[in-house]
Amino acid sequence: MNCAIILAAGEGSRMKSKMPKVLHEVMGKPMLQHVIDQCKIAGVDKIIVIIGHESDKLKSKISDESIIFREQPVGDEYPYGTGFAVMQGIDEIDDNDNVLIVCGDTPLIRNESLESLMNYHDENKNSGSILTAVVENSFGYGRIIREESGQIEKIVEQKDGNAEELKVKEINSGIFVFNGEALKQSLKEINSDNAQNELYITDVISVLKDKGKSIGGLVVEDNDEIFGVNSRVQLAQCNELMKKRINDHWLTEGVSMISPDTVYIESDVKIGRDTILYPNVILQGGTEVGEECIIYGQTRIIDSIIGDNTTVESSVIEESQIGNNTSVGPFAHLRPGNKVGNDVKIGNFVELKNSIFGNNSKAGHLAYIGDGEVGNNVNIGCGVIFANYDGKAKHKTIIKDNSFIGSNSNLVAPVTIEENAYVAAGSTITTDVKSGDLAIERAKQRSIENWVVKRGLNK
Ligand code: UD1
Ligand code: CA
Repeated sequence: MNCAIILAAGEGSRMKSKMPKVLHEVMGKPMLQHVIDQCKIAGVDKIIVIIGHESDKLKSKISDESIIFREQPVGDEYPYGTGFAVMQGIDEIDDNDNVLIVCGDTPLIRNESLESLMNYHDENKNSGSILTAVVENSFGYGRIIREESGQIEKIVEQKDGNAEELKVKEINSGIFVFNGEALKQSLKEINSDNAQNELYITDVISVLKDKGKSIGGLVVEDNDEIFGVNSRVQLAQCNELMKKRINDHWLTEGVSMISPDTVYIESDVKIGRDTILYPNVILQGGTEVGEECIIYGQTRIIDSIIGDNTTVESSVIEESQIGNNTSVGPFAHLRPGNKVGNDVKIGNFVELKNSIFGNNSKAGHLAYIGDGEVGNNVNIGCGVIFANYDGKAKHKTIIKDNSFIGSNSNLVAPVTIEENAYVAAGSTITTDVKSGDLAIERAKQRSIENWVVKRGLNK
């Protein structure tokens, strides 16, 4: 079986945060979740996450039944370090398992690289395989020390290395694959006799080497993948790298962006071909945008499904579904729970909440549509308000097909407007309107003759 132990118990003190480091988000997803997702895609069957700091927060944020969480005890009476962290999950490992070890703070790692390392490990029948990288500046990393033959001898940490060792540019990414039995046995032999007084997972390498086991190193193709986040500056850099990776993907898939640097697309978003994203578009969560859509700037779409050939301009759309050939905005706000049909127009300063809005219906300007059920071919005039709240509870407004609601009307819910009915402009409707009727509710207009002159107000 392929298992993974993900190390996420470090304090992450340089983040200066109340939240565990691995919960900080990269393009809308916690770093740890990125690593978990990549492990799953790479074909890992069992994932064990070692947690420490604020473990309850962590467990509730990563709500995934299939993950096994293990808490690393922290305190003066316990050792510290990556080796001690791995020990917390070792009883979940069988001798014949392959164990992938990954850090929870390297969210840019790709499933392809994890899979390559696992394949490399199997093909070479290694006891341990290290994903390495050759970097310009190796400061801070563990260095890969090779014998003259090229065979890996050990990993030396920054604080423990001599001048010669510290010159080495090949570094440990912190990602390994071990044979289960070899890992278990060698963990028993590591000690904290080093500059940081920690149990290092990296020491397993020299233990295995001394036993004559075969160790290998595979150089990662793209160094960005092993980028580890320890500070907010690095978190920001990581977001930039991931943003570019995501945007490049969608550009390759046939989505146009006028200015990709300014477009923010979170990792789980999907976008159809020939859709055009203008500058400053934000697409978040599980949003799916169809084909041939145009999304203009200053638009934020969260957890929503947009059909094909739909246009959105300068609007906010949350947890809603929108059909095809529909136009939203500028300056519309769709709050959660809407289902908007095809060929619809939701225009300037229109707010929708928890409403169904049928095909071919229009609300062109300045309306509030809350808890509504609007049929097909309905026209909602300018300034119409669905008065859905009586101070205690929310009620429904139902408008059936082909009806017309005149401008500046209030529909006091619960109320139903039947099919083909009209509401005259300026009416406050409190009782149901029958099919085919015109409901008019306003005082009869009268004029006071010559009022201006009598009042001495004429100019
Ligand atoms: C580690 C490696 C180093 C490698 C580098 C890559 C060791 C000794 N060193 O160094 O060779 O080049 O990663 O980024 O392994 N963690 C725990 N419990 C602990 C300590 C750490 O779970 O007691 C976790 C952290 O949350 C983190 C990971 O282990 O996710 C790595 O720990 P970190 O302290 O960042 O190790 P480095 O010093 O960067
Ligand atoms: Ca690190």
